[in-house]
Amino acid sequence: MTTKTLNGPKEGVFNLRFAKRLRNQLVDTYESLHREFGDRCACRIGPYQIFFFFHPDDVHEILVTNSKTILRDPRPMQVFAQWNGNSLLITEGEQWLRQRRLVQPAFQARRFEAYSQKMIVEIDALKDQLLARLKTQPSVEIDVDETMTSLTLNIICQTMFSTDLKARASEIRTAVATLAEIAYHEMQQPFLWPLWLPTRWNRRKKAAMAVLDQVVWDMVRQRRRENVDKGDLLSMLLAAVDEEGDGGTLTDRQVRDEAMTLMLAGHDTTAAALDWLFWLLAKHPDAADRCRQEIQQTCGDRPVEFSDLPKLTWLNAVIRESLRLYPPAIGVFLRKATQDVRIGDVNVPKGALISLSSLVTHRDARWFPEPDRFDPERFLPSRVGSIPPYAWFPFGAGPRSCIGLHFAMMEMSLIVARWLPALRWTTVAGQPDPVPHMTAALRPKDILKLRFEVVRQ
Ligand code: HEM
Repeated sequence: MTTKTLNGPKEGVFNLRFAKRLRNQLVDTYESLHREFGDRCACRIGPYQIFFFFHPDDVHEILVTNSKTILRDPRPMQVFAQWNGNSLLITEGEQWLRQRRLVQPAFQARRFEAYSQKMIVEIDALKDQLLARLKTQPSVEIDVDETMTSLTLNIICQTMFSTDLKARASEIRTAVATLAEIAYHEMQQPFLWPLWLPTRWNRRKKAAMAVLDQVVWDMVRQRRRENVDKGDLLSMLLAAVDEEGDGGTLTDRQVRDEAMTLMLAGHDTTAAALDWLFWLLAKHPDAADRCRQEIQQTCGDRPVEFSDLPKLTWLNAVIRESLRLYPPAIGVFLRKATQDVRIGDVNVPKGALISLSSLVTHRDARWFPEPDRFDPERFLPSRVGSIPPYAWFPFGAGPRSCIGLHFAMMEMSLIVARWLPALRWTTVAGQPDPVPHMTAALRPKDILKLRFEVVRQ
């Protein structure tokens, strides 16, 4: 068996110039690596050896075949653990498997219809607010990220915790944005400053963490006091018996950690995905009109319900294409080899870091011709078979893939399908196209506004 030695970037002493480029221009730097070195490359940055893989076969090898030995890099996990605690996002091995099994029942298919009803209440309430404003003015401009973050936060809190957090939405949104910014900054640092040190970052971090902690602890303690089974994730966690552990129920601290992760992972990434989806629909009114036609043909004049979603193939293709062009969770694909491992014809030594980029693989012309073009047709049943497995992985792949995949797809579908027949949205004149920017999720760098008006038949 031959072993390939990989080329890679060498920029400045200890490759620090490359490290700086990676930190400051993540998206461009990944694209340039692929252009310059092809599907695989490797380099050293200071003491770290890091391998970059962009081919779908390697994605499969890394996330699926070798998922027991190639684990999430502990460094970013240490950063996220500061507020996620020991939740299933953070842990590994047997402990992770137990936690995943405890949370999994909340994502069983039989629960989705009930979730859809709760989602629809929130989706329609916001739509009605917009329509009310449009009674007195021909159009309104909205900040898309602010709106989508509040909506997805309300949805996750209502579906998983039967809790209304609207009054605190803006406070939570600010706290999450602060932590996302700090996390991105801390991941580049060689070590974490202890939390007790009164640095500027630590003060901001503690204040943001206190907001989220209070919200989640209030929910957990109140439910514990009420002692009522509301049939949601929170009741499920409070009643769960850790049969493979010590056989006891989860401590409040364990419940708090899982609830925090579900609240954060369950709204922030979806909001980022919706920013791009709404912008693409504004930019491509023909695609939005085709969605309206499909909805009209499927449902007539009644609103779309849960059972209609499998029939909306064009809408599904639009969402998948949007996730291809702008996969919101690109930061999670930094892994570490815990043993020597072979990926294709490359030997990756124990301890090396392994990086994937859905953004690069999703824009490879071999799998997606004219990759920068928004073309939902690629995901229609007649064409989707020509996309190789693992060339599209916005939700990851293998055992650590996103637990909320179907939840997020349903949520995005219902939002668009319930708004489009009543509302039309367009780009704002003079506003430049949004530039992707990475913090915890891939979001538009600057505030993105869209102009909404009533659809007139
Ligand atoms: C468009 C929306 C979403 C995207 C693109 C997304 C993407 C991802 C990705 C890429 C991962 C990591 C996969 C890996 O490391 O291999 C992940 C993990 C995770 N996601 Fe999502 N996600 C979304 C929505 C959600 C929702 C709605 C929930 C919960 C309701 C959720 C909960 C989680 C959790 C708990 C994990 C960690 C799973 C584990 O480690 O076992 N996500 N997600």
